[in-house]
Amino acid sequence: MRTIIDGRAIAEKVYTELRGEIADLKSRGLTPGLAVVLVGDNPASRAYVRAKDKMCRELGLHSVKLELPATTKQEELLARVDKLNHDPAVHGVLVQSPPPPHIDEVAIIRALDPRKDVDGFHPLNVAKLAMGDNSGFVPCTPLGCLRLLRETNVSLSGANIVVLGRSMIVGKPMALLLMQKGVDATVTVVHSRTRNIGEVCRRADVIIAAIGQPHFVKADQVREGAVVIDVGINRVDDAGSERGYRLVGDVDFDSVVKKAGAITPVPGGVGPMTIAMLMANTVKACRMLNIL
Ligand code: GUN
Repeated sequence: MRTIIDGRAIAEKVYTELRGEIADLKSRGLTPGLAVVLVGDNPASRAYVRAKDKMCRELGLHSVKLELPATTKQEELLARVDKLNHDPAVHGVLVQSPPPPHIDEVAIIRALDPRKDVDGFHPLNVAKLAMGDNSGFVPCTPLGCLRLLRETNVSLSGANIVVLGRSMIVGKPMALLLMQKGVDATVTVVHSRTRNIGEVCRRADVIIAAIGQPHFVKADQVREGAVVIDVGINRVDDAGSERGYRLVGDVDFDSVVKKAGAITPVPGGVGPMTIAMLMANTVKACRMLNIL
Protein backbone atom coordinates (compact mmCIF):
# COMPACT_ATOMS: atom_id res chain seq x y z
CA MET A 1 0.00 0.00 0.00
CA ARG A 2 1.46 3.32 -1.05
CA THR A 3 0.75 6.33 1.06
CA ILE A 4 0.36 9.82 -0.34
CA ILE A 5 1.22 11.90 2.72
CA ASP A 6 -1.47 14.54 3.15
CA GLY A 7 0.33 17.65 4.41
CA ARG A 8 -2.87 19.67 4.55
CA ALA A 9 -4.57 17.14 6.83
CA ILE A 10 -1.53 16.91 9.14
CA ALA A 11 -1.28 20.71 9.23
CA GLU A 12 -4.95 20.80 10.28
CA LYS A 13 -4.09 18.49 13.18
CA VAL A 14 -1.36 20.94 14.24
CA TYR A 15 -3.86 23.82 14.03
CA THR A 16 -6.33 21.96 16.23
CA GLU A 17 -3.63 21.64 18.90
CA LEU A 18 -2.59 25.28 18.46
CA ARG A 19 -6.15 26.60 18.75
CA GLY A 20 -6.32 25.11 22.25
CA GLU A 21 -2.99 26.68 23.22
CA ILE A 22 -3.95 30.05 21.75
CA ALA A 23 -7.25 30.02 23.66
CA ASP A 24 -5.30 29.28 26.85
CA LEU A 25 -2.90 32.20 26.21
CA LYS A 26 -5.81 34.51 25.42
CA SER A 27 -7.48 33.57 28.70
CA ARG A 28 -4.33 34.95 30.35
CA GLY A 29 -4.58 38.17 28.34
CA LEU A 30 -1.91 37.21 25.79
CA THR A 31 -2.32 37.15 22.01
CA PRO A 32 0.67 35.68 20.16
CA GLY A 33 1.91 38.12 17.51
CA LEU A 34 3.97 37.55 14.36
CA ALA A 35 5.67 40.18 12.20
CA VAL A 36 6.64 39.22 8.66
CA VAL A 37 8.94 41.57 6.76
CA LEU A 38 9.22 41.42 2.98
CA VAL A 39 11.77 43.53 1.10
CA GLY A 40 11.13 43.80 -2.63
CA ASP A 41 8.50 42.19 -4.80
CA ASN A 42 9.66 38.65 -5.55
CA PRO A 43 6.33 37.03 -6.59
CA ALA A 44 6.96 33.72 -4.74
CA SER A 45 8.00 35.58 -1.56
CA ARG A 46 4.90 37.78 -1.78
CA ALA A 47 2.72 34.68 -2.00
CA TYR A 48 4.40 33.12 1.07
CA VAL A 49 4.10 36.32 3.08
CA ARG A 50 0.42 36.62 2.18
CA ALA A 51 -0.19 32.99 3.21
CA LYS A 52 1.54 33.55 6.58
CA ASP A 53 -0.50 36.69 7.29
CA LYS A 54 -3.75 34.91 6.32
CA MET A 55 -3.03 31.97 8.61
CA CYS A 56 -2.28 34.30 11.56
CA ARG A 57 -5.67 35.91 11.06
CA GLU A 58 -7.46 32.55 10.81
CA LEU A 59 -5.96 31.50 14.14
CA GLY A 60 -6.67 34.83 15.80
CA LEU A 61 -3.01 35.81 16.13
CA HIS A 62 -1.81 39.40 15.96
CA SER A 63 -0.22 39.85 12.52
CA VAL A 64 2.07 42.60 11.29
CA LYS A 65 2.91 42.48 7.58
CA LEU A 66 5.64 44.93 6.53
CA GLU A 67 6.14 45.23 2.79
CA LEU A 68 9.17 47.40 2.03
CA PRO A 69 10.43 48.52 -1.39
CA ALA A 70 13.37 46.73 -3.05
CA THR A 71 15.39 49.94 -2.60
CA THR A 72 15.17 49.73 1.22
CA LYS A 73 18.60 50.38 2.74
CA GLN A 74 20.30 48.02 5.17
CA GLU A 75 20.14 50.64 7.99
CA GLU A 76 16.40 51.14 7.43
CA LEU A 77 15.79 47.39 7.62
CA LEU A 78 17.94 47.10 10.76
CA ALA A 79 15.92 49.93 12.34
CA ARG A 80 12.65 48.13 11.49
CA VAL A 81 13.94 44.89 13.00
CA ASP A 82 15.03 46.72 16.14
CA LYS A 83 11.59 48.27 16.50
CA LEU A 84 9.91 44.85 16.18
CA ASN A 85 12.42 43.38 18.69
CA HIS A 86 11.11 45.90 21.20
CA ASP A 87 7.39 45.68 20.33
CA PRO A 88 5.67 43.80 23.20
CA ALA A 89 2.73 42.79 20.94
CA VAL A 90 5.13 40.95 18.61
CA HIS A 91 6.56 37.59 19.75
CA GLY A 92 7.91 36.35 16.42
CA VAL A 93 9.82 38.27 13.74
CA LEU A 94 10.68 36.91 10.33
CA VAL A 95 12.43 38.55 7.38
CA GLN A 96 11.45 36.73 4.21
CA SER A 97 14.40 35.20 2.37
CA PRO A 98 15.97 35.94 -0.06
CA PRO A 99 16.24 39.73 0.36
CA PRO A 100 17.52 41.90 -2.52
CA PRO A 101 21.26 41.49 -3.23
CA HIS A 102 22.35 44.76 -1.57
CA ILE A 103 21.03 43.51 1.80
CA ASP A 104 23.44 41.64 4.09
CA GLU A 105 21.08 38.88 5.19
CA VAL A 106 23.40 37.45 7.84
CA ALA A 107 23.67 40.87 9.52
CA ILE A 108 19.86 41.15 9.53
CA ILE A 109 19.49 37.70 11.09
CA ARG A 110 22.10 38.54 13.75
CA ALA A 111 20.13 41.68 14.60
CA LEU A 112 16.98 39.68 15.42
CA ASP A 113 16.22 39.08 19.07
CA PRO A 114 16.94 35.30 19.19
CA ARG A 115 13.91 34.90 21.48
CA LYS A 116 11.73 36.19 18.61
CA ASP A 117 13.58 34.34 15.83
CA VAL A 118 10.72 31.98 14.87
CA ASP A 119 12.60 31.00 11.68
CA GLY A 120 15.42 29.53 13.80
CA PHE A 121 18.05 31.27 11.65
CA HIS A 122 19.90 33.25 14.37
CA PRO A 123 23.34 31.79 15.31
CA LEU A 124 22.15 31.19 18.88
CA ASN A 125 19.24 29.07 17.66
CA VAL A 126 21.44 27.22 15.14
CA ALA A 127 23.82 26.43 18.02
CA LYS A 128 20.98 25.27 20.26
CA LEU A 129 19.76 22.88 17.57
CA ALA A 130 23.29 21.51 17.14
CA MET A 131 23.56 21.08 20.92
CA GLY A 132 20.15 19.44 21.33
CA ASP A 133 18.88 22.28 23.54
CA ASN A 134 15.17 22.53 22.83
CA SER A 135 14.74 26.00 24.33
CA GLY A 136 15.62 27.44 20.90
CA PHE A 137 13.77 27.62 17.60
CA VAL A 138 14.14 25.06 14.82
CA PRO A 139 13.59 26.20 11.21
CA CYS A 140 9.98 25.62 10.16
CA THR A 141 10.46 23.49 7.04
CA PRO A 142 12.68 20.81 8.64
CA LEU A 143 10.39 20.80 11.68
CA GLY A 144 7.42 20.26 9.34
CA CYS A 145 9.19 17.40 7.55
CA LEU A 146 9.93 15.66 10.85
CA ARG A 147 6.29 16.02 11.92
CA LEU A 148 5.14 14.51 8.59
CA LEU A 149 7.45 11.52 9.15
CA ARG A 150 6.25 11.08 12.75
CA GLU A 151 2.58 11.33 11.79
CA THR A 152 3.15 8.75 9.04
CA ASN A 153 4.73 6.41 11.63
CA VAL A 154 7.97 6.15 9.66
CA SER A 155 10.60 4.34 11.70
CA LEU A 156 13.52 6.78 12.08
CA SER A 157 15.77 5.24 14.74
CA GLY A 158 18.79 3.80 12.92
CA ALA A 159 17.22 4.55 9.53
CA ASN A 160 19.41 5.65 6.62
CA ILE A 161 18.18 9.09 5.67
CA VAL A 162 19.53 11.01 2.70
CA VAL A 163 19.04 14.77 2.74
CA LEU A 164 19.51 16.37 -0.68
CA GLY A 165 20.69 19.96 -0.26
CA ARG A 166 22.76 21.79 2.36
CA SER A 167 21.00 25.13 2.74
CA MET A 168 20.78 26.91 6.08
CA ILE A 169 16.97 26.96 5.69
CA VAL A 170 16.41 23.25 5.06
CA GLY A 171 19.31 20.83 4.43
CA LYS A 172 21.62 21.61 7.35
CA PRO A 173 18.97 21.99 10.07
CA MET A 174 17.15 18.91 8.68
CA ALA A 175 20.31 16.83 9.08
CA LEU A 176 20.88 18.14 12.63
CA LEU A 177 17.29 17.40 13.61
CA LEU A 178 17.34 13.85 12.25
CA MET A 179 20.64 12.88 13.90
CA GLN A 180 19.51 14.24 17.28
CA LYS A 181 19.20 11.87 20.24
CA GLY A 182 15.60 10.68 20.30
CA VAL A 183 15.29 10.72 16.50
CA ASP A 184 18.51 8.74 15.98
CA ALA A 185 18.69 8.52 12.21
CA THR A 186 21.92 7.95 10.27
CA VAL A 187 22.09 10.97 8.00
CA THR A 188 23.89 11.53 4.70
CA VAL A 189 23.85 15.01 3.19
CA VAL A 190 24.09 15.06 -0.59
CA HIS A 191 25.04 18.22 -2.50
CA SER A 192 26.30 19.39 -5.88
CA ARG A 193 29.78 17.91 -5.36
CA THR A 194 28.62 14.50 -4.13
CA ARG A 195 29.77 11.53 -6.22
CA ASN A 196 27.36 8.78 -7.28
CA ILE A 197 24.24 10.51 -6.05
CA GLY A 198 22.03 7.76 -7.46
CA GLU A 199 23.90 5.07 -5.54
CA VAL A 200 23.73 7.06 -2.29
CA CYS A 201 20.00 7.67 -2.73
CA ARG A 202 19.23 4.03 -3.48
CA ARG A 203 20.55 3.05 -0.03
CA ALA A 204 18.15 5.44 1.69
CA ASP A 205 15.17 4.38 3.75
CA VAL A 206 14.03 8.01 3.62
CA ILE A 207 14.93 10.68 1.04
CA ILE A 208 14.37 14.35 1.79
CA ALA A 209 14.75 16.43 -1.37
CA ALA A 210 15.57 20.13 -0.88
CA ILE A 211 17.77 21.20 -3.75
CA GLY A 212 15.46 23.52 -5.65
CA GLN A 213 15.69 21.70 -8.98
CA PRO A 214 12.46 20.54 -10.59
CA HIS A 215 12.10 16.76 -10.89
CA PHE A 216 15.72 16.10 -9.79
CA VAL A 217 14.93 12.80 -8.04
CA LYS A 218 13.94 10.09 -10.51
CA ALA A 219 12.52 6.61 -9.87
CA ASP A 220 15.86 4.86 -10.52
CA GLN A 221 17.36 6.70 -7.52
CA VAL A 222 14.70 5.40 -5.14
CA ARG A 223 14.64 2.02 -3.42
CA GLU A 224 11.32 0.16 -3.58
CA GLY A 225 9.32 1.12 -0.48
CA ALA A 226 11.44 4.14 0.51
CA VAL A 227 9.77 7.21 2.01
CA VAL A 228 10.18 10.38 -0.05
CA ILE A 229 9.68 13.89 1.31
CA ASP A 230 9.69 16.59 -1.37
CA VAL A 231 10.56 20.07 -0.08
CA GLY A 232 10.85 21.64 -3.54
CA ILE A 233 8.44 24.30 -4.73
CA ASN A 234 9.54 25.18 -8.26
CA ARG A 235 7.60 27.31 -10.72
CA VAL A 236 7.74 25.84 -14.22
CA ASP A 237 6.19 27.45 -17.31
CA ASP A 238 2.81 26.01 -18.20
CA ALA A 239 0.98 27.75 -21.04
CA GLY A 240 -2.08 25.59 -20.30
CA SER A 241 -2.43 27.01 -16.79
CA GLU A 242 -4.30 30.24 -15.99
CA ARG A 243 -1.28 31.68 -14.14
CA GLY A 244 1.16 30.65 -16.88
CA TYR A 245 3.09 28.37 -14.51
CA ARG A 246 2.58 25.39 -12.26
CA LEU A 247 4.33 24.25 -9.10
CA VAL A 248 6.44 21.11 -9.16
CA GLY A 249 8.68 19.54 -6.55
CA ASP A 250 12.31 18.37 -6.58
CA VAL A 251 10.98 14.84 -7.10
CA ASP A 252 9.63 13.40 -10.36
CA PHE A 253 6.38 12.48 -8.61
CA ASP A 254 4.70 10.54 -11.42
CA SER A 255 7.51 7.98 -11.68
CA VAL A 256 8.67 7.97 -8.02
CA VAL A 257 5.14 7.42 -6.66
CA LYS A 258 5.20 3.94 -8.22
CA LYS A 259 8.22 2.91 -6.11
CA ALA A 260 7.94 4.87 -2.88
CA GLY A 261 6.26 3.40 0.19
CA ALA A 262 5.09 6.91 1.08
CA ILE A 263 5.55 10.25 -0.67
CA THR A 264 4.53 13.87 -0.26
CA PRO A 265 2.84 15.64 -3.18
CA VAL A 266 3.61 19.20 -4.37
CA PRO A 267 1.56 21.18 -3.61
CA GLY A 268 -0.16 19.82 -0.50
CA GLY A 269 2.80 18.11 1.19
CA VAL A 270 5.57 20.02 2.97
CA GLY A 271 4.28 23.53 2.09
CA PRO A 272 1.26 23.57 4.45
CA MET A 273 3.46 22.14 7.24
CA THR A 274 6.01 24.96 6.99
CA ILE A 275 3.32 27.53 7.77
CA ALA A 276 1.84 25.36 10.53
CA MET A 277 5.28 25.12 12.20
CA LEU A 278 5.74 28.89 11.91
CA MET A 279 2.48 29.34 13.78
CA ALA A 280 3.63 26.77 16.37
CA ASN A 281 6.97 28.59 16.81
CA THR A 282 5.12 31.89 17.26
CA VAL A 283 2.96 30.39 20.01
CA LYS A 284 6.12 28.94 21.61
CA ALA A 285 7.81 32.37 21.44
CA CYS A 286 4.81 33.99 23.14
CA ARG A 287 4.92 31.40 25.95
CA MET A 288 8.68 31.66 26.44
CA LEU A 289 8.77 35.47 26.39
CA ASN A 290 6.12 35.44 29.09
CA ILE A 291 7.75 32.55 31.00
CA LEU A 292 4.69 30.29 30.74
N1 GUN B 1 12.16 31.70 2.23
C1 GUN B 1 11.86 30.41 1.93
N2 GUN B 1 11.57 29.74 3.07
C2 GUN B 1 11.68 30.62 4.09
C3 GUN B 1 11.48 30.51 5.48
O1 GUN B 1 11.15 29.46 6.04
N3 GUN B 1 11.68 31.65 6.19
C4 GUN B 1 12.06 32.81 5.62
N4 GUN B 1 12.25 33.87 6.40
N5 GUN B 1 12.25 32.94 4.32
C5 GUN B 1 12.05 31.84 3.56
